Amino acid sequence: MIITSRSFGEYRAMFALGDGDLRGVVLDCGGGASSFAAGAAGAGARVVAADPGYAHGPDVLAGLLRGDQERARAMVRANADRFVWDWYGTAERYGEVRSAAGVEFIADLRRRPGSYLAAALPCLPFADGSVDLVLCSHLLFTWADRFDLAWHRAAILEMSRVCRGEVRIFPIVHRGAGERVMFLDRLRVDLEAAGLSSEIRRVPYEFQRGADRLLAVGAHR
Ligand SMILES: C[S@@+](CC[C@H](N)C(=O)[O-])C[C@H]1O[C@@H](n2cnc3c(N)ncnc32)[C@H](O)[C@@H]1O
Repeated sequence: MIITSRSFGEYRAMFALGDGDLRGVVLDCGGGASSFAAGAAGAGARVVAADPGYAHGPDVLAGLLRGDQERARAMVRANADRFVWDWYGTAERYGEVRSAAGVEFIADLRRRPGSYLAAALPCLPFADGSVDLVLCSHLLFTWADRFDLAWHRAAILEMSRVCRGEVRIFPIVHRGAGERVMFLDRLRVDLEAAGLSSEIRRVPYEFQRGADRLLAVGAHR
């Protein structure tokens, strides 16, 4: 799996975040090299990011990220028709945004290492109900060829356990051509049976064609 570095601006759009969403403690689960935690800190919000990759430390991660960004840029250039260009404008601009976010992430990881925890779903080192909002970008559903229904169910139950508010997951389609994830409906039935309501919401962001919706999961009131 590649490490990617989406920016604070991309997160705000992907997760339809309003100012109220950033008032409590936010967990970025599968945070990778995103600059969301850094940007949110700059905006006065408290974000903790969790990712197994953080065990490598900033020097190794910076090297891995350079290679992954190069591969991602080549993939986007070779498959330009699979993407909607409204957000970035051009492939060059896309590369610049992701590269700047990666630089910001590495600097923040060095400056505030306590905001980045090495942890892997479906097991998070947080107490029950200890965060207000969980965001999960381009891990669940994106990699549904690697992680099955049972893993997705366990991962969402775990994110819901640590969260007293909502869990938002984006996108809800496969990587590549953006096919629908065949077990999504079944997964939502299982969540409902476990006492968790879920809702699909359209968001003001679409880069991978067809990836313009998030899944929001919350406890029944
Ligand atoms: C495609 S990247 C997305 C990074 C970031 N959220 C973004 O949108 O730019 C997926 C990330 O999920 C992380 N990951 C892989 N397995 C994981 C797991 N079991 N639990 C949490 N994160 C995981 C990877 O290390 C990688 O950084």
